[in-house]
Formats: sequence, C-alpha cells, structure tokens
Amino acid sequence: MGDGVSNFKVGERVGRWLLRRRLPRLEYILVPASLPLLRIPEDISNEEAATIALALGTAAIGLRRIANFPEQAPLGHTILVWGGSSSVGLYAIQLARLVGFKVITTASPKNHELIVEASGRGGVDYVYDAISEQGSYEAAVKAFRKYGPRRIALVLPVDETAFEPGVEAHFSVVSTLLGSAVSLFGRYFVDDERDILFGQKLYKQVEVWLREERLKANPHAVRAGELNGVQDGLKFMKEGKVSGSKLVYRIA
Ligand SMILES: NC(=O)c1ccc[n+]([C@@H]2O[C@H](COP(=O)([O-])OP(=O)(O)OC[C@H]3O[C@@H](n4cnc5c(N)ncnc54)[C@H](OP(=O)(O)O)[C@@H]3O)[C@@H](O)[C@H]2O)c1
Repeated sequence: MGDGVSNFKVGERVGRWLLRRRLPRLEYILVPASLPLLRIPEDISNEEAATIALALGTAAIGLRRIANFPEQAPLGHTILVWGGSSSVGLYAIQLARLVGFKVITTASPKNHELIVEASGRGGVDYVYDAISEQGSYEAAVKAFRKYGPRRIALVLPVDETAFEPGVEAHFSVVSTLLGSAVSLFGRYFVDDERDILFGQKLYKQVEVWLREERLKANPHAVRAGELNGVQDGLKFMKEGKVSGSKLVYRIA
C-alpha cells in the first residue's frame, strides 16, 4: 500500500479492469487507489468478482448517459434492455431495477429463465442496447413511446444517422470511468473528472448493494488452462458457445 492511502486496508480484495494498452504481464500489478476501485465483500468469490467491475461499469455509464443513473427513475418510467442475457445486459437490468425502472428485456428463448421480464404496454422511455449490432438498435427503437425521453445507450459505435429525428443516441465506453482519454472503436473519448467521480461513487454503492444481496454477480464458468487457456476461450466465444455466462480463468 502506498503512503497516504487511507481508503483501503492491506488484505482487502479489490476489483477493477486495466486499459488494454497498459496491460502488464505480471502476477501483481499497481493501481492508483484514487481511481475507481471496487472493494469486494467477503462472501463474493474472486471468480464472481471477476465478472463485476467491467461489465457492470459499462452498464452503469450507459445508464448514466441516458437516464442520470444512479438518480431514482421518474415514477413509471420504463427501460428496454436489448440483449438482456449478455454480461453487460444482465447488469443493466439489475441496475435499472435498483433505481426504480420498470424493465423490459429481450433474449434468446433458451435464456428466458435468466431474464426478469415486465409487460410493456404503451412503449418505453429509454433503451439500453447491450448488443448494438446485428439489427439490435433498429429493432429496439421501435419500442419507444411517441412522447418521452427516447434516449438509447449503445455499447458499440453505430451509424447515428440511422436514427429518426427525436431519438438521442449515446455510445459510451467504460474506460472513461478511469479518467484517461482513450481512443477506442475508432472514436476518441476525452478524460472527464465527472466520470471518475461517478465511478468512485458507483463502486462504493455496488459494494453496499452486494453486501445487502440486492445485487448479484453474473453467472460464470471457471475454465481450465490458466492464462494459456484464454485463447481457447476466445475461440469458444467466437463459435457462439458462450451464453448467459462469463468465462473466468484462474491465473495465480
Ligand atoms: N462500450 C464499452 O465500453 C464496452 C465494454 C464492454 C463490452 N462492450 C461490448 O458490449 C457487447 C456485450 O459484451 P458482453 O461481455 O456483455 O457480451 P457477452 O456476455 O459475451 O454476450 C453474449 C450474449 O449476447 C447475447 N446476444 C448475442 N447476440 C445477440 C443479439 N443479436 N440479440 C440479443 N442478444 C444477443 C447472447 O444471448 P443468447 O445466448 O441468449 O443468444 C449471449 O448470451 C460486446 O459487443 C462488447 O464488445 C462494450
């Protein structure tokens, strides 16, 4: 622990992700305690914790852009989470419910048991598109109410001219929570102090929600092979064999 770090204690487990360009091949890494960092509650396993910071952070930053998360949702407002069985989608559902949204979601039939569904009479106010490709957003925006915020959060860059006037599209990346300017998916994101503050507040709140069992870590599958196994895991994913679950590798 560095001098002057008072918000964490030696022995506590913490979770975060690393920006790709800074990924060191080390068993131990240094992270600044001043940037968002999740303290992992005792009854959350390391493997469960590995599913949280990145996917949940992605869901949270998108919800913040379209609906001022974690402010309480306006009474009766409805959000459609497209791709609700993806890692990001599963967290978007949980977070949206925690702040009072009525949630409607889509997933392939085999994952319906994982998904909390609500009836969607009259259309939706917001869309969180956790897929953002293969026609997802074109289909999702059809669910918007005629009058309402009509804001859609996207996890990948899309052609924004595809949206009809009145639809507000927000593509965001989780990396801005770490406060660095980043170039990702062909777009440049400036560093923004407000995102760091949001990230810090978010992970403190997430720790509380996990302790209170109001938030659950996503399903995961531990796979063999340590770091060398990751290549196989990527192939497994590309073959479309991962569904409703995060692959986790023990590397130490
Ligand atoms: N912007 C960012 O900062 C950021 C950060 C993290 C991830 N991402 C992006 O977010 C996306 C989701 O990542 P993830 O880790 O959540 O993915 P994931 O968990 O690997 O997604 C797999 C799930 O997606 C579902 N799915 C795939 N195609 C679908 C479609 N066309 N419609 C509905 N559901 C579909 C599958 O559902 P079924 O099994 O039910 O078919 C599967 O359960 C990826 O494109 C990733 O690159 C962006």
